[in-house]
Amino acid sequence: THVVTENCIKCKFTDCVDVCPVDCFKEGPNFLVIDPDECIDCAVCIPECPADAIFAEEDVPADQVRFIELNAELSPLYKTISRSKEPLPDADDWNGKPDKLKHLER
Ligand code: F3S
Repeated sequence: THVVTENCIKCKFTDCVDVCPVDCFKEGPNFLVIDPDECIDCAVCIPECPADAIFAEEDVPADQVRFIELNAELSPLYKTISRSKEPLPDADDWNGKPDKLKHLER
C-alpha cells in the first residue's frame, strides 16, 4: 500500500485524489489517509502531493512509520474523497512545519 504521512496534516492539498484510479483516499477534518485495502500501489499520487507526504509503505521514513498503522486505523472512520477541493486555509504556512501529529483532528 501507499501511506499518507505527517506533512499532510493541516495542509490537505487534495491534489492526490484526482489521480487515484481506485478512489482509495479517505478524508478527515485536516488530514487524508489511504485505504490500505483499496490502494493498488500505482504510485501516481506521490509526485502530485505539494507537501511530499505520500510514500510507498516500504519507503516511509523511519520517523513516519507510525503513519502506516494510522492510515489503516483512520480509513474506516473517514469518508471517501474522489475530487480535489480547496486546501485548508493556511496550507502553505503549515507545509513543512515539524511535529504536526499533535494537531491531527479525528
Ligand atoms: Fe495531503 Fe498531499 Fe493529498 S497534502 S491531501 S496527501 S496532496
